[in-house]
This record gives sequence, C-alpha cells and structure tokens, in this order.
Amino acid sequence: MKFKDRLKDPAHPSVAVIGLGYVGLPLALEFVGGGCRVAGIDVDPEKPRLIAEKKSYLKHIPSSRIAEAVDTGRLDCTTDFSAMEKCDAIIICVPTPLGVSREPDLSYVTGTGEEVTRYLQPGQLVVLESTTYPGTTREVLVPILEQSGMKAGEDFFVAFSPEREDPGNKHFNTRTIPKLVGALTREGAEAAEMVYSLAVDEVVKVGSPEVAEMAKITENTYRAVNIALVNELKMLATRMGVDIWEVISAASTKPFGYTPFYPGPGLGGHCIPIDPFYLTWKAHQFGMPTRFIELAGEVNTAMPEFVVSTVVRSLNEYEKSVKGSRILILGMAYKPDIDDIRETPALKVMDGLLELGAKVDYNDPYVGSIGETRQTHRRPVSVQLTEGSLAEYDCAVIVTDHSCYDYQWIVDNSSLIIDTRNACSSVKEGREKIVKA
Ligand SMILES: NC(=O)c1ccc[n+]([C@@H]2O[C@H](COP(=O)([O-])OP(=O)(O)OC[C@H]3O[C@@H](n4cnc5c(N)ncnc54)[C@H](O)[C@@H]3O)[C@@H](O)[C@H]2O)c1
Repeated sequence: MKFKDRLKDPAHPSVAVIGLGYVGLPLALEFVGGGCRVAGIDVDPEKPRLIAEKKSYLKHIPSSRIAEAVDTGRLDCTTDFSAMEKCDAIIICVPTPLGVSREPDLSYVTGTGEEVTRYLQPGQLVVLESTTYPGTTREVLVPILEQSGMKAGEDFFVAFSPEREDPGNKHFNTRTIPKLVGALTREGAEAAEMVYSLAVDEVVKVGSPEVAEMAKITENTYRAVNIALVNELKMLATRMGVDIWEVISAASTKPFGYTPFYPGPGLGGHCIPIDPFYLTWKAHQFGMPTRFIELAGEVNTAMPEFVVSTVVRSLNEYEKSVKGSRILILGMAYKPDIDDIRETPALKVMDGLLELGAKVDYNDPYVGSIGETRQTHRRPVSVQLTEGSLAEYDCAVIVTDHSCYDYQWIVDNSSLIIDTRNACSSVKEGREKIVKA
C-alpha cells in the first residue's frame, strides 16, 4: 500500500507525537502550524493538562504558542496511547539516557515501541527521533513492532529522523533546521518526506535509518571532540598566560579551514555529553575502540574540576581559603537563555566547592530551584541578585552566560569574578577583579 493512498486527507495528515519534551513539544506545534491534526502523547499527565490549559512548561516556548495551537482545534494531548490508532504517522521523541555504566538505556524506546505495537494499524508510518546508535531502528524497534504480526516495510512504514533541536537558538528553529530521514524502504522515505514537509522547510532523504542515526551522532561527536580540543588548549593557554578567547578570535579571522569552538566549564544537556557514548558502546561490538570520543570525554569531564581549582587559587590570591568562603554561582542551566539543567556542569562546580567546605548559593533567572546535589540534602533555590547581596560573596562564578545578566553591574558589585564563558568580554571597569577559567 502507498502511504498517500491511506491518507484520508493528504493535505492534512494526522500525526501522533509521543514524548512532549524539549523535542516533542516544538515538533507537535510545527505540525499543527503546518495544518496537521496532532495527538500529543506523554506518560507524564502534567504535560497534557498544562497544554489543555494553554500553558507552556518550557521557558523558551511562550504559552501564546501553545494557545495558538490549541485554538486551532487540531492539537489534542493525552496520556492515552490509543490516540495514535487513528493517526497516519507516529513519531517517537522519548529520552535515550545512559545507564549507570554509561551504556545506552533504550528502555524508553522499547517501552514506547511496545505501546505502538498494541495500536499499530496497516499503512501507518512509525518514525523514531530519539538520538541513538546506528542500528537501533532496524535491530531494536522493528522486531518489537513486528510482534503486531505485520511486516515492517510491507504492512507499515518505518523511518529514523534525528531531532536537531537547539532550544534557545535565535537563528534556527524546528521549522528551519533541515530534517534528515532514513527509512527501511523507498516508500517509507517518501512517506516520511510527505509528513515532515508539513512541519519543516527542508527534508533530506538518506539511504537508510543507519545513515540518519549515525549522522546525528557524528554531528554531536564533532562538537564534543572540538570542544575538548579547545578546552585542553584553554588549560595550556592559562598556564602560559595567554588569553584563549583572544586566540580563538584571532584564528577565526582565517576565512577557510577553521571553525571556532569555545571552551567552557564542561559539557551539559541531553546530547553532547551522552550521544557519543552510544556510538562508543556500539563500536565495542565491532571490536573497535573509539579513542577520540573517550579522550574528548575525559578532557570535558575534567573541566568543572578546573573551574573549582581556579576558584581555590583565585581566593588564595585574596588570602582567603575556599573553606568557609561564600560563593555565588551565576547560571545553573547548561547553556544560556534556557531552563534545562540536565547534566549541567554548574551542579558539578557547586558540588566540588561544597566538598571543599565553601558555602555556595546560585542565581539563575530561568531555574528557580534544583533538587538535592551530591553534597547537600537541602534543595537550593535561586537567590535574588542585588547590589548588597552580590557584595556579600567572596567570589561569583559565571558558569552560564545568560544574556539577561548585566555583566558590568555584576563586576561593579562583586569582589572577585571567575568567568568560565568570557561573558565579561565587554566589561570596561573593574577588569582586575575578573579571572577567566
Ligand atoms: N533536548 C534537546 O535539545 C535534544 C536535541 C536533539 C535530540 N534530542 C533527543 O531527543 C530525545 C528526547 O529528548 P528530550 O530533550 O525531548 O527529552 P525530554 O525529557 O525533554 O522529553 C521526553 C518526554 O518523553 C516523555 N516520556 C518518557 N517516557 C515516555 C513513554 N514511554 N511514552 C511517552 N512519553 C514518554 C517524558 O515524560 C517527557 O515529557 C532524546 O533521545 C534526546 O537525546 C534532544
């Protein structure tokens, strides 16, 4: 059967988006914007409830966008998986974390696959979007779906399409980022292209799910390795008394053959610290170590410790010990202008300082509170920033360079600033108080 033959209304297919998080929610909104009817499905009942109330639960998505989508009458969110039964396409956007030994944890994907199998209909398109190692769609998802008694590629279509979501990016969004699709069959690729064309401007078909799966991990590994390189150069430059940010800016004047990457306090988020290890795990099955990836992981993992040791050394210059010092972390999210704290290096810096006996608070306009850290059983809340409160800290550590911070004001009112992002680059007064890390 051809996919387009099963569509009741080819101009307005219906799509089920499973997992309404950082990836699934914006995707669901784009499908609604493209004229589709969307069933949003999540195991967390809070998400459908908030969407029905036209409220956003992600800081970078305004509630007005949710309201606009709900008001079309084409967005229905639920915890009831049977909602996918009537849809033309089923798109899976559930988490793919690492297990305790840094092995892929595909339990969310397999659990969702089992739910899809219960409701799968002939002619439907199933797309996996969760980032994973090459082979997952064919070797893990398809066998589960085929427990329905139907054959993938014949009775229903299967594709992998990696999410390239970059929350908070001011230049690109879900619609404008080209979408890769790799399907089991040519018909599957055409079906995926037809569906995604309603939500994104450009669909790029590739030859197989494995190419699409590996392309996504290649993109993230490229970033992880280049960030590790520049982090290592930063540590060397610091010892040599050279400003790495000035070096990068100088190297960036070369119009070819150089792409700038920037050092930082360590990796964060759901992608770059995690995805390369999916590939490492798979590579072991082929008897092949992935040395670049492991080395990059080692260097990047050491960065929060580098920040902590810079705080210790800088306090020492002021004849203060870190033990008993009051330290303020600025920015808890893993990157600017979002509220996501998954894998954030700020927590690792915080734990490192607490372990040494510092009294640590944090401020983040996007992150009101955080759970317990390894070193403390209290649940820290973001403190208010005032001239008076800043002055009470022995040191402020800029971990995340939110654009709403007034860095000159922060420097004016602090006694010592450790800047891990070159956030104070345009600060004119008080530069002697800034230490780059
Ligand atoms: N966050 C990003 O910027 C980003 C970018 C590219 C790719 N990815 C990848 O996309 C995937 C999803 O990431 P995310 O950031 O959206 O995660 P998320 O944690 O923000 O959202 C996942 C959602 O899935 C729901 N969920 C969990 N298990 C479920 C199940 N069995 N059935 C239905 N819903 C379920 C959760 O309640 C949550 O709402 C991951 O593989 C991730 O690596 C994320």
